[in-house]
Amino acid sequence: MSHEPGHGTPAVDLSADNLTNRQILEAGLRRDDIEIVHYESPFPVPGTKAERRIERLVAFLFFLAGAGAIAFVAVYIWGPFNPDEYTFGSGGEDWYTPALGFCLALALFGIGMGVLVYGRKLLPHEIAIQDRHDGASSDDDRKIAAGTLGFIGEELGIQRRPLIKATLGLGGLGLGLAAAAVPIGMMIKDPHPTAEHPEDPYFETGFNPRFNDGKPVRLVREDYTPIRPEDVSIGGQMTAFPGIPGGTTNEFADSPILLIHLRDNDAQTLRSNLKNYSKNALTNPSDPNSGSMWNNFVVYSKICTHAGCPASLYEQQTNRLLCPCHQSQFLITDNARPIFGPATRRLPMLPIDVDGEGYFVAKGDFGVAIGPAFWERPTQ
Ligand code: FES
Repeated sequence: MSHEPGHGTPAVDLSADNLTNRQILEAGLRRDDIEIVHYESPFPVPGTKAERRIERLVAFLFFLAGAGAIAFVAVYIWGPFNPDEYTFGSGGEDWYTPALGFCLALALFGIGMGVLVYGRKLLPHEIAIQDRHDGASSDDDRKIAAGTLGFIGEELGIQRRPLIKATLGLGGLGLGLAAAAVPIGMMIKDPHPTAEHPEDPYFETGFNPRFNDGKPVRLVREDYTPIRPEDVSIGGQMTAFPGIPGGTTNEFADSPILLIHLRDNDAQTLRSNLKNYSKNALTNPSDPNSGSMWNNFVVYSKICTHAGCPASLYEQQTNRLLCPCHQSQFLITDNARPIFGPATRRLPMLPIDVDGEGYFVAKGDFGVAIGPAFWERPTQ
C-alpha cells in the first residue's frame, strides 16, 4: 500500500489540543516543504500471523543479546580469574578469554540483528526530500519536531509489542551490565598477593628467581641459547628473554629486555648518572638501579612505560632508545630517562651479573614494576 502523507491533506490549526501526532507531522511536512516520494506501510499487515512470526524472531534475537551479555558477566566474575590460572596448555582455563569474546559477540550480534530485522520488517519504509533552511526554529516548529518524534515512537510500535519491549529491555540491560562489569571488577578484585596466591603478577617478571627454583635466571636468546658478554659487540645491543620454561613465549610477555654493550665513555656517563640518581634520596628513597650494570653492559626492560609497546630502536650514536608506537625516546646513559614523547617514566633496569660458566644472569627481578603506569606503581 502506498500513499503520500503531507500532500493533498487539509491544513490544521496547530493551537488545537486534540491533534494526533500524525496530523502534526503532516502539518510540519507541509511547512517544511518536505516531499515524500515513497511511502510503504509496514509489512506484514499488523495483527497477522506473519507479523507475530517476525515479532518472535526479533524477540529471540534480543533475548540472545541479553543471554550473551549476562553470560559475559558470569564468565568475567566466575571464570578462572587468578592470573596464575592462565597457564597455557594447562587445560580448561584456556577457554576464559575466548569465552568472554564469544559471549560479547553473541550479545552484539543479537542486538544488532534484532534492530535490523525490526527496522526491515516492522517499520514503514519511506523516502523524503527536503530543502535546507537557515535560522532558528519557531515555537510551532519545535512543537512539530516533538510531534514528529512522538509519531515515530508510535510507528515503532514498541508499546503494543510487549514481548519485543521486554526482550529489548533484557538485551539493553545485559549489554549495560557487560560494559560496566570490567571497570567495576577492576575496582573490586585485588590483583596483589594473598595468602592463597603469594605471587604478585604486577610486580614480577620471568626474571624472578622463583621461576628457577630460587636460582638466578639466565638471559637467553629467542632459541633459549644463553648469552656471553663477548656475544654483544661494543655499541651493540641484543633482545633477550628469561631462560626459564616458556620464558620466550607470551606467557612471559612482560619480560623481554634489551641488553646493551656501551662504549667506555658512555658506560662511564651512565655510572656517574646512576650515582647522581641515587643521591636524589628524597624522591627516590630506594635506588632500584645501583649495582645493576655489569662492566659496560646494561639491561633495560623493553616494555615502553607509555603504553607497553616494545621500545627497541636503539640509536647508538646518541644513546637513545626509541619506541616506534608514539615516538617516546629514552636516554640510555641517563638511567633511561624519557627525553621526548608521551612516556613519563624511566625504563626499569634489570640487575645483571655473569655466572661461573660465563653467561649473563639476572641478579634478581626488576626493582620496580615494568611497563605503563598504574595507580599503585611507585614513582620512578
Ligand atoms: S607505547 Fe611507547 S611511546 Fe607509546
